[in-house]
Amino acid sequence: MARERTTHRCEQCGSHAPRWTGRCPHCGAWNALREERLSPPPPGGMPEPVVLAAVGAQGGDPRPTGIGELDRALGGGLVPGSVTLVAGEPGIGKSTLLLQVAAALAAAGARVLLVSAEESAEQIRRRADRIGAPVGQMSLLATTSLTGAAAAVAHHRPELVVVDSVQTLADPALGAAGSVAQVRACAEAFVALAKQHDIATLLVGHVTKEGTLAGPRVLEHLVDTVCSFEGDRHHAVRVLAVVKHRFGPSGELGVFAMGERGLESVADASAYMLADRRPGAPGTIVAPVLEGRRPLLVEIQALVARSVLGTPRRVAQGIVPGRLALLLAVLERHAGCALGTMDVFASAVGGVRVHEPATDLAVGCALASAALGIAVPDDLVACGEVGLGGEVRQVAHLERRLAEAARRGFRRALVPCGAPTAPAGIEAVRVGDLAEAVATLR
Ligand code: TYD
Ligand code: MG
Repeated sequence: MARERTTHRCEQCGSHAPRWTGRCPHCGAWNALREERLSPPPPGGMPEPVVLAAVGAQGGDPRPTGIGELDRALGGGLVPGSVTLVAGEPGIGKSTLLLQVAAALAAAGARVLLVSAEESAEQIRRRADRIGAPVGQMSLLATTSLTGAAAAVAHHRPELVVVDSVQTLADPALGAAGSVAQVRACAEAFVALAKQHDIATLLVGHVTKEGTLAGPRVLEHLVDTVCSFEGDRHHAVRVLAVVKHRFGPSGELGVFAMGERGLESVADASAYMLADRRPGAPGTIVAPVLEGRRPLLVEIQALVARSVLGTPRRVAQGIVPGRLALLLAVLERHAGCALGTMDVFASAVGGVRVHEPATDLAVGCALASAALGIAVPDDLVACGEVGLGGEVRQVAHLERRLAEAARRGFRRALVPCGAPTAPAGIEAVRVGDLAEAVATLR
């Protein structure tokens, strides 16, 4: 008789090891390896390859959900048989978004099943009423049993399944809910059902505050699409970024605003982000940032005030603190703008986080503008990375960024010397270093 094939899987990181050891060779967790049986080779022996040219390419067309920004981010909508993971911090609005998607598709006549292991049927009904979602014929299953939920899906074979969340559904045979083994089992079960019955499936996954996908990270390779739902809970803006996509380009982005009646698609995100802007005040400038593939105009603000503290405060909101420190040093050393005794506050307005070094020039200009008490002209944006020597460096996709600025009525842009020709409607003001940029403000 053939020996049974086994492996050892780590409960912490999900990796495999050929034999048991006290410590996982991948993540170093102690006593986390569990023996698992591998499925035996198929009884029929060798599987038969197919000629690729003879395989039909039809099917797999995305079905619009009617939620504009979700459809935009996913390249048209949800593909039948595809599995999409929507990952985000607790409270960011995942359940709200997916309830809206489920309701929209149900209202369009699709058979929809919402599996909730977090909220009761009554809670979901109240939320649907609150946001005015037409629940139509949508079915709901409030359960924490993975096997029960999977059986219901296999029986009813809906066109859309929403699972909220992979961390709270559990199979009692696999131990505590939320463990890596449980989260994987949950995803594997719904992936198998999706492929077998051609069900578009949306899985909710919670991530921790630090931004690591605790649990969901081990799912990234199991699912077809991974969306990260982000935002600042104290602001209305929510961004759905598609970080992996088997059915279209990744890097696409949907922008929403959380309001009294759920999430609203924000088609013109730049207009929305600049709605409250008060031009003409010192310390503010607009930066064309690129979120994924989508250009977005973000207001950068700075405030400089004499410090009463021994160590002046440096507060960065939505801006990388290290970049702020660097720009303050460059302003002092290379642009004659010493802020060493001042408290400095800098922020990207609207609860967005800008990680790109391409916003350096705008942050530098906002700081200088605040320090000098001179307003940046209304029609000016700034885009460039600033190096340690104060030099302004190239950024990717400058044309796309400037075209967006031109569309919103900006007429001039501070850009690096080597920048390509500016698109129609906006003039490139080339600057070699931050000092030159500051000089244009004086
Ligand atoms: P929720 O979808 O429950 O978040 P998640 O599933 O990601 O944990 O959203 C919760 C937050 O959204 C909650 O703080 C209340 C807020 N909210 C609104 O502001 N407006 C609304 O219409 C709804 C339904 C929720
Ligand atoms: Mg939720």
